[in-house]
Amino acid sequence: MKLFIDSANVEEIQKAASTGLVDGVTTNPSLVAKSGQEFKQGLKRICDVISGPVSAEVTALDAPGMIEQGRSLAQIASNIVVKVPLTIEGLKATQAFSKDGIQTNVTLCFSTNQAYLAAKSGATYVSPFIGRLDDIGQEGMDLIGDIRAVYDQYGYSTQILAASIRHSEHVLQSLRYGADVATMPYAVFEKLIHHPLTSSGLDRFLDDWKKSGLSL
Ligand code: E4P
Repeated sequence: MKLFIDSANVEEIQKAASTGLVDGVTTNPSLVAKSGQEFKQGLKRICDVISGPVSAEVTALDAPGMIEQGRSLAQIASNIVVKVPLTIEGLKATQAFSKDGIQTNVTLCFSTNQAYLAAKSGATYVSPFIGRLDDIGQEGMDLIGDIRAVYDQYGYSTQILAASIRHSEHVLQSLRYGADVATMPYAVFEKLIHHPLTSSGLDRFLDDWKKSGLSL
């Protein structure tokens, strides 16, 4: 499963990328606004750090507006993926981008039927929002499993990008349910590595080694 960082904060992305474990980045208008950077400059900086896919979202609501914005975003760097909302207009734009060879991430997916239409439109990625479904009392992860089953049954190549990940358990479930990608905040990424038994085990090994008087 590919691992993306869900952030528009360049310093944070740099820190994550330095581990060699990050395959890409997703941004959204809320994250870009929070980063306080000029949109295109910020994206350029992110694309300089990450050679994998970097999702940049359009803000227009009609297909022609999305297509214009998306084409302009795609000029920033060759690894830009144009992110469009899962609406009729978004799907029309997705079909146009697909014909142009521009990669797309169809976002704000909350049902298998929506994911089906995204795949039919030629989306490169579809982003089911797990955390936001959990927030309204549904089991977000069931959606990932259901989309996986449908895509596999019909041979759709659209990649399932598990989004709105809030904690490590979501990452584990994304792995188990067969997501192609999981995008997560930096704080969640950091937590994946930690286990208290790894830390205490290491302390004990080093303590015993020190007491032994041996050297390497
Ligand atoms: C993904 O592309 C979105 O940017 C993101 O995962 C949304 O997460 P949230 O529901 O925590 O805002």
